[in-house]
Amino acid sequence: MVVKRIVDLRSDTVTKPTESMRAAMASAEVDDDVLGYDPTAARLEREMAKIMGKEAALFVPSGTMANLISVLIHCDIRGSEVILGDYSHIHIYENGGISTIGGVHPRTVKNKEDGTMDIDLIEQAIRDPSFAICYPTTRLICLENTHAHSGGRCLSIEYTDKVGELAKKYGLKLHIDGARIFNASVALGVPVHRLVQAADSVTACLSKGLGAPAGTVIAGSKSFISRAKILRKTLGGAMRQVGIICAAALVALEENVGKLESDHKKAKILAEGLNKIKGLIVDVASVETNIVYFDIQEGSSITEVELFKSLEAHGILVMPEGPFKFRVVIHHQISESDVQYTLSCIQKAVTGLSAQNGGN
Ligand SMILES: Cc1ncc(COP(=O)(O)O)c(C=O)c1O
Repeated sequence: MVVKRIVDLRSDTVTKPTESMRAAMASAEVDDDVLGYDPTAARLEREMAKIMGKEAALFVPSGTMANLISVLIHCDIRGSEVILGDYSHIHIYENGGISTIGGVHPRTVKNKEDGTMDIDLIEQAIRDPSFAICYPTTRLICLENTHAHSGGRCLSIEYTDKVGELAKKYGLKLHIDGARIFNASVALGVPVHRLVQAADSVTACLSKGLGAPAGTVIAGSKSFISRAKILRKTLGGAMRQVGIICAAALVALEENVGKLESDHKKAKILAEGLNKIKGLIVDVASVETNIVYFDIQEGSSITEVELFKSLEAHGILVMPEGPFKFRVVIHHQISESDVQYTLSCIQKAVTGLSAQNGGN
């Protein structure tokens, strides 16, 4: 039987649990976590609180639920407004849950190419309370680190601290969607707790670059996490013997954080290689972590659908992102050889389609 080689670059969420994760899951000590007795969940939460430098932490099923819970706690009074990036994950990809479920009004500020928002524009977006007769009340600012839509760019300590100071000046809270905060920490060479020091709450996904099968952790003050626990139950996210999943996450923390640096190197190699293929463009300098966007050059005879289908036929799975754009994401189950194989397949596909379409 010929086994077709598949290189799955659609996302860092596609990783399969490793043997050590499966073994840890099989032998995990568990109990009813809704009642607060699961020892493995408690261990993961203690560990994550320490890493994130916060008083407490809570395991929830997904990054989406973690953000929703966090925003809803900070904006628990009706008529609250949150300032967030126009290309933030919360605003674009989470079903508008903060509005539909939480009644929270979003006020967007343009995300710059590096994933930040201009601090002056954030300040201008804060509502003047003296006109509360018409305005909603600003209560929260959200940042995203790394910023997914800008290609996994990192928000620096300096930037995050400045936004934190601004939030304090106006009596607002700061939440960080840290779905890929470990990638940012490794790329910037600073510990996670320092990177999120200014935040009142922060989330970290275990199921992305870290490679656990599921789950996200929220960290914050003890009182914030007590409220988060109640809201998690309300939203149906409290699970009984959840230690089975948390056991895999503990292995991910132990074994996979150290692999992120190599993921970032492979992403850079991939970006540089793609940029050398005639007809494709990558902003190599913008590749700071594990996400790479590449474009089909303007005026090319190749369409996105054609290239996508041709790559799929070669076993190279990527994510189409627009009329001429693709996203590829490196994770710990992508080897250097996979990167080289991917480059050779993409080169072949582009050359073949160009010849077929009689263009450049
Ligand atoms: C930046 C960011 N935040 C939040 C999420 C949501 O995570 P989940 O898919 O676990 O709901 C994602 C998912 O890709 C993300 O990229």
